[in-house]
Amino acid sequence: MTPLRRVEVHLRPGEDGCHWAREHKAVAVVVDALRASATITCLLQQGAAEVLVVKEVDEAYAYRETHPDTLLVGERGGLKVDGFDFGNSPTELKRADVRGRRVVFTSTTGAQRLVDCLGASAITVGTTINASAVARQVSAKALAENVPIVIIPAGLATDPSVVADEDWLGATILAARMGLPLHQASEAPFQQYQRLIQSTGLLAGFLQSSHGQNLVHLGFSDDIHVCAQVDLITDIVPTLTAVVPLPRGGQGVHLERGTVEHATSL
Ligand code: MLT
Repeated sequence: MTPLRRVEVHLRPGEDGCHWAREHKAVAVVVDALRASATITCLLQQGAAEVLVVKEVDEAYAYRETHPDTLLVGERGGLKVDGFDFGNSPTELKRADVRGRRVVFTSTTGAQRLVDCLGASAITVGTTINASAVARQVSAKALAENVPIVIIPAGLATDPSVVADEDWLGATILAARMGLPLHQASEAPFQQYQRLIQSTGLLAGFLQSSHGQNLVHLGFSDDIHVCAQVDLITDIVPTLTAVVPLPRGGQGVHLERGTVEHATSL
């Protein structure tokens, strides 16, 4: 019989976090706070039947060739991709009717991290807007399976040297809600970002982050305001339910709404 170990929460950014999730068969939570995690959560909340996350724009186009009823959602350089139906914008999606639709989603970083987590014990999408729901589901699963949790601030896939404050802020909000001990090495960044939340506030922290500044310049300030609302959505935990082989090779991450445990308190 495998001995029970203490279930801890680890904060590990970017590619290293995805690698660690696979290696330790952890429950992975990918946090791309501006904006992929929020967009995926909003799509499912607005009634999309499923979201298939793929790494490449060409994979999205190819998927729609074989499944013409598919909606394509996502960005490159923060902007809607040519030929896609919607960009990676929770605000823009509010005006969209996605009920019952199959959506293929890709983005610069969030999508890459989700696919790179394949091999972990579970994969979920978490951020500020669904923090408490994710924390409940993920901690229950990790305890039931006696596996660690790794919260992955997504960072920037095109430049690993970037420290994405907005993702660390979102990851900190999530970690605080897990109700489980933090791994020792994660305590320092957790405390650093807790202090930032207390002194500056989450919205200002998002707005001041480098990607926050990019989004303001691109005209997406409204998205930042949506993404900064803690527990805006209380019943959606985008969760991996299948690994989908793609028409021209590669794999996609098939996400559905997840099962939310309703706790009386956190
Ligand atoms: C990403 O996945 O890289 C981000 O969500 C980019 C964006 O804000 O559009």
